Amino acid sequence: MEINSPFRYPGGKFYARKLIMELLPIHDFYIEPFAGGGSVFFAKEKVKENWLNDMDTELINCLSVIQKRPQDLIAALEGEAATKERHKYFKNEYQPRNQLERAKRWFYLNRTSYSGIMMMQNCFWGYGDKYSMRPENWPRNILRTSEKLKGVKLTSLDFEDVIDQAPDGAFLFLDPPYFNADQDKFYTHSFAKDDHFRLSDVLRRHADRLTYLITYDNSPEVREIYSWANHILEKEWNYTISRTDDQKTKIKRKGSRSKGREIFILNYGPSYQQAPLFDEAIQYAYSIA
Ligand SMILES: C[S@@+](CC[C@H](N)C(=O)[O-])C[C@H]1O[C@@H](n2cnc3c(N)ncnc32)[C@H](O)[C@@H]1O
Repeated sequence: MEINSPFRYPGGKFYARKLIMELLPIHDFYIEPFAGGGSVFFAKEKVKENWLNDMDTELINCLSVIQKRPQDLIAALEGEAATKERHKYFKNEYQPRNQLERAKRWFYLNRTSYSGIMMMQNCFWGYGDKYSMRPENWPRNILRTSEKLKGVKLTSLDFEDVIDQAPDGAFLFLDPPYFNADQDKFYTHSFAKDDHFRLSDVLRRHADRLTYLITYDNSPEVREIYSWANHILEKEWNYTISRTDDQKTKIKRKGSRSKGREIFILNYGPSYQQAPLFDEAIQYAYSIA
């Protein structure tokens, strides 16, 4: 079942999800070591085994409560209105005492903050009735997410542990923080330069037993670190700024169109192809690269 991510998430791959999905080889073990809002996982069909990981323990706790106790979370959020006052309260005053209350706080702030940025120093009110999911629709969102998360393994580990533990033949979609960007402003856990090298090293170490697709900013440094990989494809997609917030000077006018540009790094090629769209998609990618 294809659904949207339950969260707003900075750097989320919502607008690129179709481009990514048409490059996926057939697999029966799917892993996202940098799940974030999980836009690709939520958009694709589930396979036999599915594993979402993210270093951010609060994000994973929220997913885990949605997975196991959706009705409790719905009840905890019942009656909440999306207001600046409540946002301020949840951000600065509310002291969660258990997993359910942590999930409530995270969910509320994520749905009402500018771009879903959950790094507290940069977590600002960013809800608009016209552009954001309204609180009355949160229960539906939680229930369909819970359904999709049934049987999914959820962990909060460093990516290296996940890749080391991935079983032979697994397929990994990796969406690490950008190499050249202010990613330390967005995520509770950001990447140091060394982490980018460490990621490349660990992937290279497992290249013979795992298949993977990595998305990155298109920079010479990233191309250099991954010069050993089989395929580096340039990709471009459109997206629309459709959400309002209080920081109007900092964002583009809503409704304006922008382009996403990244590289996709694959350790497999058309000879691995099994998914019906793969051959066509990769040939097209080469023709425009
Ligand atoms: C670009 S975001 C992923 C966005 C996601 N693909 C989506 O569609 O919403 C990168 C994620 O990596 C996580 N992260 C940062 N350092 C990590 C580490 N060492 N191991 C695992 N996850 C990490 C961050 O918490 C963040 O959620």
